[in-house]
Amino acid sequence: MGRITGSFLPQPLQIISPLFILIATFPTIPALPLRPWPHSPSNGSIFRDSNKYEGSSEFVHMKYHMGPVLSSPITVYPIWYGNWQRPQKKIIRDFISSFSAPRSTHPSVSQWWRTVQLYTDQTGANISNSVFLGAEKNDRLCSLGKRLTRLSVQSVIRAAIRSPSNPLPINPKGGIYLILTSDDVYVQDFCNNVCGFHYFTYPSIVGFALPYAWVGNSERQCAGTCAYPFAVPSYIPGMKALKPPSGDVGVDGMVSVIGHEIAELATNPLMNGWYAGEDPSFPVEIGDLCEGIYGTGGGGSYMGQTMKGEDGSTFNMNGVRKRRFLIQWLWNPVVSYCTGPNSLDYHHL
Ligand SMILES: *[C@@H]1O[C@H](CO)[C@@H](O)[C@H](O)[C@H]1NC(C)=O
Ligand SMILES: *[C@@H]1O[C@H](CO)[C@@H](O)[C@H](O)[C@H]1NC(C)=O
Repeated sequence: MGRITGSFLPQPLQIISPLFILIATFPTIPALPLRPWPHSPSNGSIFRDSNKYEGSSEFVHMKYHMGPVLSSPITVYPIWYGNWQRPQKKIIRDFISSFSAPRSTHPSVSQWWRTVQLYTDQTGANISNSVFLGAEKNDRLCSLGKRLTRLSVQSVIRAAIRSPSNPLPINPKGGIYLILTSDDVYVQDFCNNVCGFHYFTYPSIVGFALPYAWVGNSERQCAGTCAYPFAVPSYIPGMKALKPPSGDVGVDGMVSVIGHEIAELATNPLMNGWYAGEDPSFPVEIGDLCEGIYGTGGGGSYMGQTMKGEDGSTFNMNGVRKRRFLIQWLWNPVVSYCTGPNSLDYHHL
């Protein structure tokens, strides 16, 4: 059990607008960038009259574009690219195993997933409540090198499904291929406004359109950007980093990014599902709208009310095996603001 706390996070001095790189000889892969920072300016009042509900805005029009959502049972296939320690893998495996673990202690990761289940396709089918950890693949020696481009990430998936020994299953219906790069691997745009992204593979490269996400361990490259608030960027002097619940700054930081990307993949796997904004190559998805919001009152530079463990770590939800995580909230299409299981009015959801 933890006690409820709130902490104010200073506003980064400078917000760089998302950067999208055109790839000359290939179709553009939209960045769908994520950095877990608070975005809009605020002077830190917890309940501002103009923003009573987290992230609420009359200007957000989350729209369905008639494409599929992941309404069949979902299987996540991690691809461990580079050098991963066993305890690091366990944190991420436990997080994924927590999505469909209804008996976890409240507030839980499986309650957090209920916000995603509110989204439907044109047949009225909701997103599946079954999310399982599937087969895994190791690419310890970095078969495509320690610098990947957006496009070469797809070649990592191709290698994993074509491997002569224990290839990953090909599952276009409910599969999510999760490429996790270790802290010594650089992926195009990493740290430069991007901590993770999702897309689907090109049949011309991989043979199938498979939804996938990439998330990198930022610990040695830009923890202050991508593992915030467990690390603080140097331009915010005097702010103390929060203690991560599993004790691993890089991996605890990745977990919220993984949650963000999987939630968006489920609602927008082929880029024609749920998003806001008029431009399909720059979609604003259900995680993007709630970046930096982890609890009641969150918004602007305030992360919202979270909990503190007896060890001093900060978290907002529980998972399997007594794990604790700090996971950002998601856009709720029914009430039109960001919601999460640790909300003080969770029973209304
Ligand atoms: C900060 O909040 C106070 C009280 O709500 C308000 O009067 C003031 O104008 C705000 N300042 C800025 C810079 O928004
Ligand atoms: C399915 O989605 C609808 C529309 O958002 C919602 O009212 C309903 O509660 C959802 N069902 C489940 C099981 O989440």
